[in-house]
Formats: sequence, C-alpha cells, structure tokens
Amino acid sequence: MIQHTCESDMIPNTYEHIYSRGIAHRRYPSEDVIRCLAGRQDLEIVADLATGTGRNLAPLLLSLRPGGLVVATEAAPSGLEAVANWCRALGSTEIADAKTFDPEASRRLERAGIDLRSHNVFKVSVDSDHRHLGPAALFRGSEYVLLALCLSDMSEPFFPSSSLDVIVNRGSISYLDERGVRATLGLMRDALREAGQLIVTFKSTRDTRFSEGEAIEGHHRRRRIASGDQQGLEMDFFDEARLVALLGGMFEIKRLLHLEETDVMT
Ligand SMILES: C[S@@+](CC[C@H](N)C(=O)[O-])C[C@H]1O[C@@H](n2cnc3c(N)ncnc32)[C@H](O)[C@@H]1O
Repeated sequence: MIQHTCESDMIPNTYEHIYSRGIAHRRYPSEDVIRCLAGRQDLEIVADLATGTGRNLAPLLLSLRPGGLVVATEAAPSGLEAVANWCRALGSTEIADAKTFDPEASRRLERAGIDLRSHNVFKVSVDSDHRHLGPAALFRGSEYVLLALCLSDMSEPFFPSSSLDVIVNRGSISYLDERGVRATLGLMRDALREAGQLIVTFKSTRDTRFSEGEAIEGHHRRRRIASGDQQGLEMDFFDEARLVALLGGMFEIKRLLHLEETDVMT
C-alpha cells in the first residue's frame, strides 16, 4: 500500500532520498514528546504528522488505552516503509481485513478516517505493567494498540473534525511557507477534540541555518539552506513573538520551550 518512488524521481537532499539510503532515527524519541505524554495511558486516537521513520511512535503507542490508535502520516514513502519494517521485524501483526477484526477497533479506525484497503495497520502488543519503561514495553505483552501508516501531505485535510486527542508534529512544519503553516495549523485545530493537545516544533531564528541561509526575496524569515543534508531546501524560521501571534489565535499556549540540539562531534 505504501507507494514507492522510483530512484530516478528522487530529488537529492529530500527526506525520501535520505530515508531510502537506510537512515532511520527511531531509537531515541524526543525528550519533549516523552515529557508531554508522561503518565498518559488513557488516550484513544492520536496522530504523529510527518512521522519520518517513526522516532516518536514509541511514547505515543504507550500513551494509549488498550485498543487505542496511533495514526502516523508522512510524505516520504521510504520513511513509512522503515516504520512498517520495524513493526514486522518485531513480530506485530498486520491487519488487512476489518471484518475479521475486533468491532471496537474497527470503529476507532473509521473515526480516524482509516480505510484498511488503502492504509497499512499494525496490531502492536504492549506490556501494560511496564509501559513507563518506553520502547522496551512495545511488541510484547497481552494488550494491543493499533498503528496506522498513511502516506499523506500534512497540509491536506485527512482527519475528520474532532477526532484526535493528541497531535505530535515535530521538525516538519517549517518546510511549509507562511500560508501553508497557518492552513496546516488550522487543519490540526479542526482535527483535535475539545481538550486535545498539540505538540509542535518550529525552526528557531536562533538556528545557524537561519543566519547562514540564503534570504528569499519577499519572505522576511524564510531561508534557502546553505549546506549539509538539506542544502537547497527552503525553511521558515520563527521567533517567540511570531509564534505567539501565530498560535495564540488558534490554541491556548500551555508551554513555549526553546529546544536546542548542539553537535558535540562532527
Ligand atoms: C526532520 S524530519 C522529522 C521527522 C519526525 N517527525 C521526527 O521528529 O523525527 C521532517 C519530516 O517531515 C516530512 N515532511 C516534510 N514536508 C511534509 C509534508 N508537507 N507532509 C508530510 N510530511 C512532510 C519529511 O518527509 C520528513 O520525514
């Protein structure tokens, strides 16, 4: 179901290109995601938009109630293929037919807009007693949760209104332009339930890629990346005032953090 892109169609320095070379970051979920979900085991339907190779799926899967659902969406097919291979390698069952499946789980899939004919869905075992131990508590135990993989662009409507308890969107929204960012946040707002939570990261104007990037005419805080794996890609950067103005109209801001990753070896 995950459509493959032909090698010759690949644009260098895109994520499809990066993941298809076998690079996958999954072992270390983001600390901020773990912290925001700490203690939760009650969520019903959550989403990881632009999941990449599924780095943050372990804490999301472990935040669910039994039978709950994580929907992981991504634009790069090889990212989703890496997640599917991870699930298969660890022995989780792939679900292909709603009729042979538990009716409550089928309703949950339907509520999140998941169609078993066009999405890969895995039944992931979880160890309910040791959920707090993180990834080691996945793929064993007697309870199960569901993981649906969807090839989709985050800027296009996908989820029904008020269908999700939590959305994680890490490291990806800055690739969109200002209008795309605003529209995509609007889609997320619509997809979240009343007391839903959005965990989202934006690229900071304190990032060296902002100071070193090539300015783009007419776009004050957009840059073309000057070097590295993402050379040539365009990205929008945000300072605190811009974020408050952008998010404040749509969401109640619970916490605004500045996250920094510094290379200690190159
Ligand atoms: C830096 S990675 C982050 C991956 C993951 N969220 C994480 O925290 O490790 C950015 C991801 O965003 C995806 N992406 C970029 N633009 C997208 C779009 N419009 N729709 C869906 N995914 C997109 C890329 O393919 C890539 O996998």
